Amino acid sequence: MKIGAPVESAADEARVALTPDSARQLAKLGHSCIIQKGAGKAAGFSDDTYKEAGVEIAATAAALFKAADVIIKVQRPNDAELKRLSADKTLISFFWPGQNEKALKAVASTGASAIAMDMVPRISRAQKMDALSSMANIAGYRAVIEASNNFGRFFTGQITAAGKVPPAKVLVIGAGVAGLAAIGTAQSLGAIVRAFDVRPEVAEQIESMGAEFLMLEFDEDGSGDGGYAKPASPEFIEKEMALFREQAPEIDIVITTALIPGRPAPKLWPAEMVKLMKPGSVIIDLAAEQGGNCDLTVAHKIIETDNGVKIVGYTDFPSRMSAQSSTLYATNIRHMLDDLTPEKDGVLNVNMDDDVIRGATIAHQGDVTFPPPPPKIQAIGKQASAPTAPEPTAQEKAAAALAAERASGRRQVGLLVAGGLFMALLGGYAPAAFMQHLIVFALSCFVGFQVIWNVSHALHTPLMAITNAISGIIIIGALLQIDSPTGIVGILAAVSVLIATINIVGGFMVTRRMLAMFQKS
Ligand code: NAI
Repeated sequence: MKIGAPVESAADEARVALTPDSARQLAKLGHSCIIQKGAGKAAGFSDDTYKEAGVEIAATAAALFKAADVIIKVQRPNDAELKRLSADKTLISFFWPGQNEKALKAVASTGASAIAMDMVPRISRAQKMDALSSMANIAGYRAVIEASNNFGRFFTGQITAAGKVPPAKVLVIGAGVAGLAAIGTAQSLGAIVRAFDVRPEVAEQIESMGAEFLMLEFDEDGSGDGGYAKPASPEFIEKEMALFREQAPEIDIVITTALIPGRPAPKLWPAEMVKLMKPGSVIIDLAAEQGGNCDLTVAHKIIETDNGVKIVGYTDFPSRMSAQSSTLYATNIRHMLDDLTPEKDGVLNVNMDDDVIRGATIAHQGDVTFPPPPPKIQAIGKQASAPTAPEPTAQEKAAAALAAERASGRRQVGLLVAGGLFMALLGGYAPAAFMQHLIVFALSCFVGFQVIWNVSHALHTPLMAITNAISGIIIIGALLQIDSPTGIVGILAAVSVLIATINIVGGFMVTRRMLAMFQKS
């Protein structure tokens, strides 16, 4: 199939859906590529670099739409582009089908298949195609860079001969993909970072990045389906705003990213909160396009309030880093095409039984196929649970925990009594030396099991390093036995040395890799 990327028609869109690198990868899937003249220029990719990658250049959009079987784009197609689609073509781009019903019907009426990159479900297998996350990651990073550009001070604290500079205080509201990227960037610039999210499960992620999670004493979990949040109750929002009101006079930079998919952005930073901020403070409202988290945000613009607070409402952060965002977006598209070309023979297969392809396909064979059914696999960060079962109350949970503890206690007593009886019976017949060894063996199995079983998964790798010490003891014991006159004992000792050695070498290798993850290159 021929994959074609036109010039993006939306104003100020500097990204492109095909890069020379992604074209080379697509060729390996049996596809050929075509790009409209100058389509990559704003992202730093010249026509010559495309030609070197074996990409054909189309002089006009009309020529490109005619030649290509699959049209890949960043922004959803405009009316002129929609008219150029036909039943033998497939469109892959951002589309926002929920908000663009007319365009969705128009695309379905052409008979073309349309795959919306914004509809890729947030499940582990689809992460490589998750263009929303790759763009939000860039937006989070850029939000901090834009904040520092508009902030008149250092981010990091300094003690200089000319005086002491306090570190900037940054508050990030909403710790999804963009929020976490902003936390990481602000943290690496040396600011003091605080963050808040309605989903309590992100507290650990916030803290692991060195930021402080602002706790809210309120018994409500804001986690919804698909790794996103659900709307918070008015009481919760009130408490949340009281928390922010306390922070406002102290905070220098606020980055708001709070959003619930398909809804207008919740208003969390009203005008009265802006008034509480110091002059020179900056608010970056990433949710500007959905109405903004701040009351005063003006989409696409920077404004300055009477009390000297700058509010940035840009809606094109990824496009402001077009080389990086095009590279990541083109890779997301390439992975999508990889899944759509399972035989790697250049033939597209829109497999509607595949969770990811089904989720993202919004029009197929003349039908609107949006909204998709929920994916069969749970979203990232979610535990498998029966979706229809009502949430147990705190009392029910406590009663269930008590019953489980009692049952486990009864099981343990039963096992101990059975084990004791078995030992007593065996002791009646077996030689004393055997019994001594057997009891030591049984006890070490029990202690070993208890120790390993109770270690949290996150600690298994460091634990491997500790077990090297145990393996060392095993080797010493085995070496003492290896020249035993009894053949079988010698063989078992040699096997023990081998296995313990594998454990030690493996333990060191894994520990080395783990430490390397924390080293700055
Ligand atoms: P996400 O869905 O991963 O994160 C949103 C976070 O907000 C979630 O963690 C959610 O729990 C949290 N949240 C929802 N209601 C909240 C509340 N009342 N208080 C605190 N937290 C709350 O979304 P993602 O991908 O991180 O994007 C964040 C925002 O950035 C979105 O509005 C998105 O449209 C926008 N964005 C803006 C760009 C731009 O150029 N301005 C570019 C890319 C994304």
